[in-house]
Amino acid sequence: MKTRARIIGTGSYVPEKILTNADLEKFVDTSDEWIRTRTGICQRHIAAEDEQTSDLASKAAQAALDMAGVTAEEIDLLIVGTITGDCPWPATACLVQEKIGAKNAWAYDISAACSGFVYSLDAATRQIEAGAIQKALVIGAEILTRFIDWTDRNTCVLFGDAAGAVVLEAQETESGVLSTHLHSDGSYYELLYQPGFGSVHPPSEEGLKNRVPYLSMQGNEVFKVAVRSLYNVAVECLEANNMSVADLDLFIPHQANIRILDAAAKRLGLSEEQTYINVERLGNTSAATIPVALDEANRAGRIKEGDLLMFDAFGGGFTWGAALVRW
Ligand code: UT7
Repeated sequence: MKTRARIIGTGSYVPEKILTNADLEKFVDTSDEWIRTRTGICQRHIAAEDEQTSDLASKAAQAALDMAGVTAEEIDLLIVGTITGDCPWPATACLVQEKIGAKNAWAYDISAACSGFVYSLDAATRQIEAGAIQKALVIGAEILTRFIDWTDRNTCVLFGDAAGAVVLEAQETESGVLSTHLHSDGSYYELLYQPGFGSVHPPSEEGLKNRVPYLSMQGNEVFKVAVRSLYNVAVECLEANNMSVADLDLFIPHQANIRILDAAAKRLGLSEEQTYINVERLGNTSAATIPVALDEANRAGRIKEGDLLMFDAFGGGFTWGAALVRW
């Protein structure tokens, strides 16, 4: 039997504070009706002032470790998928390592925007399959609400803060991560990115005036490529495993917009029961959407041993990818 990466624990953390569409109406030219019908989002959670991305990540990680019955010291590899780390560097994963006491792990971040969790899952899975490690913590964590321009109605209504995590263990099994399929295309980078403060626009007063530190997106262009890419990579993933949509027990897509999810699910021929959706409660939490949704579904008893799951992500870069998992 092959050595596979098995998910043996899931965890998530969502900050307490809720910002509703009605709250947004008070300071941006928008409406609850527009946000609901164009995005499906009703509310999003916002991190407290003294909460950092590493705090959200650590809480999600600890919950996953507790479920797995694994101590932090047993973790060999810790990866955080994030584009909103505590600092540009060092890696937020190193801060999480310190906070949870994973002192035997090596730790790094993966910057793949909303595909960050699937990219990180792929990296950890490969290490396990190669026999290099026994246990990994894979986390998707974001505080995107600190990097959006709250005067820009095109973007500020979409995002929220959260973290989700899984513990992976090397097992000789038919279950676990069956395959991962990743893609990127840098020709689209300016459709969804944060112009500053990197080497192009280093920190400066002028940059602040021009709002370069904030997320910039051409939503309708992103929308079209997102639907197409989510569909294509889901098909690629199923075909690689000689499976069909009917075999899937739970499809967990990146939660960006209900219309994107509906369009991709419809093209794939997925039923409502097969698709997990929570975008109405959490908004788009980037790399956190998939592990948070997975943890919610798991704790709600929606996943049983032997179930077939697919994760399907799309984000800035552009990056996109899918993973097929036997529970
Ligand atoms: O997470 C990874 C990737 N991200 C995504 O997948 C996001 C992809 N894009 C989307 O979800 C959608 O494109 C949006 C939700 C961002 C926008 O929806 P849309 O249907 O594509 O709208 P639009 O950008 O074409 O704008 C339509 C109109 C515009 O008004 P005009 O120019 O037609 O007069 C916008 O100014 O809606 C206006 N608008 C708003 N109106 C009220 C844009 N944002 C808002 C708003 N409230 N918050």
